[in-house]
Amino acid sequence: RDQLLFSYKGILYPRILYSPEVFKALESFEARRDDVILAGYPKSGTNWLSQILNDLIAISQKKTPGSESSVNAEEQEEFPYLEIGDSEKYERMSKLPSPRFMVTNLCPEKLPKSLFQNNAKILLLIRNPKDVATSYYHFSNGVATVPSYETWDDFFTDFMAKKTAWGCYLEYLSEWNKYADKENIMTITYEEVKENPALSVKNIATFFGIPLTEEQLQLVVERSSFQSMKKNSDKTHGSFGNVLFRKGTNWLEQMVKELADAKYTEEEMKERINAEKKLETFQRLEF
Ligand code: A3P
Repeated sequence: RDQLLFSYKGILYPRILYSPEVFKALESFEARRDDVILAGYPKSGTNWLSQILNDLIAISQKKTPGSESSVNAEEQEEFPYLEIGDSEKYERMSKLPSPRFMVTNLCPEKLPKSLFQNNAKILLLIRNPKDVATSYYHFSNGVATVPSYETWDDFFTDFMAKKTAWGCYLEYLSEWNKYADKENIMTITYEEVKENPALSVKNIATFFGIPLTEEQLQLVVERSSFQSMKKNSDKTHGSFGNVLFRKGTNWLEQMVKELADAKYTEEEMKERINAEKKLETFQRLEF
């Protein structure tokens, strides 16, 4: 594990992506009021929401999402993960035109103060911890950047003990929860985007002040469906496509399938699902 991860201010990060120097340089980053920022723990659907936000930015610039001109514009920008890059990245970013798009996997205390002082708009994405953990387990066995695990039990023990990269998800949630009521932060859940993508995209666009026609809304929704993102993933995410676009579903669907396969009686199935639902509600209340 030590070969792949290093600790910075109490949290582990993959060495290949992060460095203490860049974390230090990040402190000088000056956020702007019109930045478009997505905050989310890895595996909570950050690539999905990134796609939606990039399309909305293209629309705000009078471009058609997915067209040549919008792709070129995206390519000219810095790698969107705020904390990944080199120490000069923030100097270069200060010269980029607005709106700048960025994603962060960091807890609020690890982010530059200007993000909160300058009232930059942040979309905070959260996902049921059970699905984040499941997705992370499969991810850790599909990429070389973080340690892999032979069994779910080994993984889950480390995940809960802050021994996996990006720290404990439950702590991440409770840290961000302190900021959730701020006017410039909009919280959205993976589950609500999945259930009603059109309404979610509309709400996100309103939050960032981007007007949308019905046609544009439909285009963004269509382009961000799990099927179309998975289909395009060779182009957008290369060899990581299969790991990043795995199932795109939630524990409930998964469980119904597992229970059906195991031929439980309907009564037993209802009981299990109700028990899980209670747990789900409890977790949401806790958040
Ligand atoms: P699963 O592994 O549960 O399938 P991140 O982008 O933050 O790494 O999150 C990855 C998770 O988001 C994966 O979850 C992936 O399948 C899911 N995901 C990616 N695109 C999606 C989409 N368009 N719709 C629903 N889920 C999506």
